[in-house]
Amino acid sequence: MSDKHYNISYLENTGLFLKNLKEHSYQPFSNIDQGIIIDLGCGTGIDAINMAQLFGNKVRLIGIDHDAIMLSKARLSNSNLENLEFIQSEADVIPFEDDSISGLRAERLIQHLQRPENVINEIKRVLKPGQPLVIVETDWAGLVFYDENINAQKKVIQYLTEVKINNGMAARKLTGYLEKSGFRNIKIEIFPFILNTLKEANDYLWIELILQEATQKGHLNNQEYESFLSSLKCADDKKYFSCSINIVVVSSIK
Ligand SMILES: C[S@@+](CC[C@H](N)C(=O)[O-])C[C@H]1O[C@@H](n2cnc3c(N)ncnc32)[C@H](O)[C@@H]1O
Repeated sequence: MSDKHYNISYLENTGLFLKNLKEHSYQPFSNIDQGIIIDLGCGTGIDAINMAQLFGNKVRLIGIDHDAIMLSKARLSNSNLENLEFIQSEADVIPFEDDSISGLRAERLIQHLQRPENVINEIKRVLKPGQPLVIVETDWAGLVFYDENINAQKKVIQYLTEVKINNGMAARKLTGYLEKSGFRNIKIEIFPFILNTLKEANDYLWIELILQEATQKGHLNNQEYESFLSSLKCADDKKYFSCSINIVVVSSIK
């Protein structure tokens, strides 16, 4: 398994699953009728493309990501929108002047950062005063399986939040980051997602791969792994598999 908890097909799958939430997260930008909106950590460009289509030609959408492969896919997916551009950059050195950007969005980026506060401060630097920031994050600590193997579940969450994902508790820390950096009108919304089959849990959370990896790395023992996985498969066969996770949308104003 990749060291990262995502790849192009993962982003395409989750993009479909999160379609309504994504559209909801564009709302704070809907009054912007000119200037630049950045989608930071844009991945395959789904949101930058959606917003470029939604907001019209007076608004310029810039997708920024440090991964050249993600950006190649994003550029391929752009069907000649003239108000859209993709730029390769680290998130902590956004290549724009102070107070020059009309809106900034970052989805499932902050969880991957070693030094999230630096990126929040960099976002604050480039945003114009009074303009919106929207951050979307997965609350990995709130991953729940309706299954009796409680200790194995706790260990999987611990593996995800403390080992696998650089900043695995990001969703819980966002309001604090924004408060410290001086953002105002901070608002948090929680969106629960329910997965009703093991296939969905594999497509959207890579659950069997995570269990295997946690076991190979010694965070679960073989017996816990076998028992948890067979219990999930049994629930799936009998059609009562149920797992949930929250996604948070935090919006604020500089
Ligand atoms: C889970 S993906 C989310 C992609 C996209 N926002 C979406 O929701 O489909 C995280 C993205 O952040 C990018 N990323 C991670 N760390 C970054 C950094 N330090 N600077 C810029 N991009 C980064 C990754 O390359 C990846 O494309």
